[in-house]
Formats: sequence, C-alpha cells, structure tokens
Amino acid sequence: MGARHVSYGAEPPHYDAVGECLLHALAVTAGPLWNDELADAWARAYGAVADLMKQGAALAAKAS
Ligand code: HEM
Repeated sequence: MGARHVSYGAEPPHYDAVGECLLHALAVTAGPLWNDELADAWARAYGAVADLMKQGAALAAKAS
C-alpha cells in the first residue's frame, strides 16, 4: 500500500499532515468522548501504519 501511494504522489512528510487531519477529525467527531488516552492510542496506531507504508515505499523505490 505504501508503494502504491508513491504513484498517488504521497511523499513521506505528507503522512504527518494526514495524521494530524485524522486526529483532528476524530476529536471533532468524538466530541466530549475524546480524551488524551484516545488521542495517544490513535496517534500510535496511525504512526505504526504510516511507518510501515513509508518503509514499503522506500523498499519499492530501492527495488525499481
Ligand atoms: C496510514 C496512512 C494512509 C492509509 C492507511 C491510506 C489508505 C489508503 C487506501 C486504502 C487507499 C485506496 C487505494 C489503495 O489501497 O492503494 C488510498 C488511496 C489514496 N491515498 Fe491514502 N492512505 C494513507 C496515507 C495517505 C497520504 C499521506 C496521502 C497523501 C497526502 C494519501 C493519498 C491517497 C490518494 C491520492 C489515494 C488515491 C485516491 C483515488 O484516486 O481514489 N494517502 N489510501
């Protein structure tokens, strides 16, 4: 999926911007249910997926 995202024009720094938008959207949607624990858990989960995608993109770039 990271490799496919290279063809969509996604570059590594874009992942941080998308993560910020995701967390903001979740916070707005959850309203009073949102808290620091959820924010931290979502930030770590998104970061883990984003890191794997960036690794996939880098591997695909090396292989080509
Ligand atoms: C963890 C982060 C992300 C996840 C889980 C994710 C997930 C997905 C998925 C599942 C798709 C459907 C197509 C496919 O599987 O290749 C997709 C498409 C796409 N993503 Fe992401 N994405 C992420 C980050 C980003 C970032 C950082 C960008 C760039 C700002 C981006 C831009 C796009 C674009 C342009 C498409 C194609 C939309 C279309 O033409 O239909 N994504 N993404």
